[in-house]
Amino acid sequence: MAHPLVLLLFLSSLSIIPPSQSNLTTSYYQKSCPNFEHIVQETVTDKQINSPTTAAGTLRLFFHDCMVEGCDASVLVSSNSFNKSERDADINHSLSGDAFDVIIRAKTALELDCPGIVSCADILALATRDLITMVGGPFYKVLLGRKDSLVSFASHADGNLPRSNMTMNQIIRLFKTKGFTVQEMVALTGGHTIGFSHCKEFADRLFHYRAKSGIDPAYNPKFAEGLKNVCANYRNNTGMSAFNDVMTPSKFDNMYYQNLPRGLGLLASDHAMVVDRRTKPIAELYARNQTAFFEDFARAMEKLSIYGIKTGRMGEVRHRCDMFNSIQT
Ligand code: HEM
Ligand SMILES: *[C@@H]1O[C@H](CO)[C@@H](O)[C@H](O)[C@H]1NC(C)=O
Ligand SMILES: *[C@@H]1O[C@H](CO)[C@@H](O)[C@H](O)[C@H]1NC(C)=O
Ligand SMILES: *[C@@H]1O[C@H](CO)[C@@H](O)[C@H](O)[C@H]1NC(C)=O
Ligand SMILES: *[C@@H]1O[C@H](CO)[C@@H](O)[C@H](O)[C@H]1NC(C)=O
Ligand SMILES: *[C@@H]1O[C@H](CO)[C@@H](O)[C@H](O)[C@H]1NC(C)=O
Ligand SMILES: *[C@@H]1O[C@H](CO)[C@@H](O)[C@H](O)[C@H]1NC(C)=O
Repeated sequence: MAHPLVLLLFLSSLSIIPPSQSNLTTSYYQKSCPNFEHIVQETVTDKQINSPTTAAGTLRLFFHDCMVEGCDASVLVSSNSFNKSERDADINHSLSGDAFDVIIRAKTALELDCPGIVSCADILALATRDLITMVGGPFYKVLLGRKDSLVSFASHADGNLPRSNMTMNQIIRLFKTKGFTVQEMVALTGGHTIGFSHCKEFADRLFHYRAKSGIDPAYNPKFAEGLKNVCANYRNNTGMSAFNDVMTPSKFDNMYYQNLPRGLGLLASDHAMVVDRRTKPIAELYARNQTAFFEDFARAMEKLSIYGIKTGRMGEVRHRCDMFNSIQT
């Protein structure tokens, strides 16, 4: 009886690839840059071992890249004196320097091996998958052949990225405009099983909540106390942050969902997952069943990875990930 299920999974993973994007394949660089996968793998392994925050930083960087005009490495472009680029939008929320660094390292190695062949968008997509797998998450296929964007504007980040103070209605609507279901949104947000958030993202729940104590009663009291200590001076010490998954912060597992009903969800948007009637059953399923989470996360990541990609003349293969070819001399 396993066959119908396998077939269904197979069909649903095919149907997420619109015909116009069918130029992508897993073997895109097989002839032009046969060492591509090996070089990315080696670069991210080395980086993750030396800087364990790289995996989470890279996953978030990739998410932000894809949500704003598609997975086209537009988030990697540096601002210049004329235009403020995506990465310098206020909402870049202090994207991780390690994440930018690992992509630049892989690009540098690839430009030596096969100059001008591999796009920064493909490097970011593959590096993200390799890093997720490295910290315990599921493996999934990454289609290749994305081109890098020809534009990057800070203003385009507005309204395309979720914020921790959004209502669940707003979050669901945002993902829906990009073609993601509630279930896919809940699965993708399981990415908060790794990494951290800066105090300003949840300080309202600790110091300014509409309650006598000033603390959001949805927090586990001991957890809130610990967070208050960490964040006591967060306005002056803006680097202070807390793990998104306080139990197993550097392991990709389903602990994020197990934390939520215990008041250990860090962000207001995290806790909202077990309050809203549309998301609660899904979060509860993932808390019970890590296999279900991993399968759904992997499928949603495959879908995210081809969102809004550019192929053909819609983009270019950048020589440097932080600069358009047109302004390189
Ligand atoms: C439901 C909507 C979401 C909201 C409101 C949200 C919000 C946030 C916020 C505020 C932070 C902290 C940023 C900082 O202070 O540095 C964060 C971190 C993070 N987010 Fe999300 N996020 C959402 C969905 C997602 C999704 C779908 C993914 C992945 C597919 C993701 C992956 C991450 C990761 C890995 C981090 C940790 C980054 C690091 O350690 O450098 N988030 N998120
Ligand atoms: C700045 O933005 C304009 C469009 O508003 C674009 O045509 C131009 O190429 C950009 N310049 C640089 C240096 O990125
Ligand atoms: C994010 O944007 C701010 C300005 O809004 C900038 O100072 C910071 O360097 C940017 N972060 C990254 C990683 O580019
Ligand atoms: C959420 O926070 C941002 C920045 O901190 C603020 O500009 C925005 O108005 C807030 N949104 C809501 C719905 O409170
Ligand atoms: C934060 O910095 C300001 C200005 O430097 C100072 O007046 C204030 O006392 C500091 N606050 C705390 C809690 O240290
Ligand atoms: C967990 O989910 C997987 C995948 O959906 C399913 O095959 C399995 O039967 C579930 N396990 C339990 C104990 O419910
Ligand atoms: C597919 O690739 C061909 C040749 O590489 C290119 O001419 C065409 O524009 C691509 N199609 C799409 C939809 O990007």
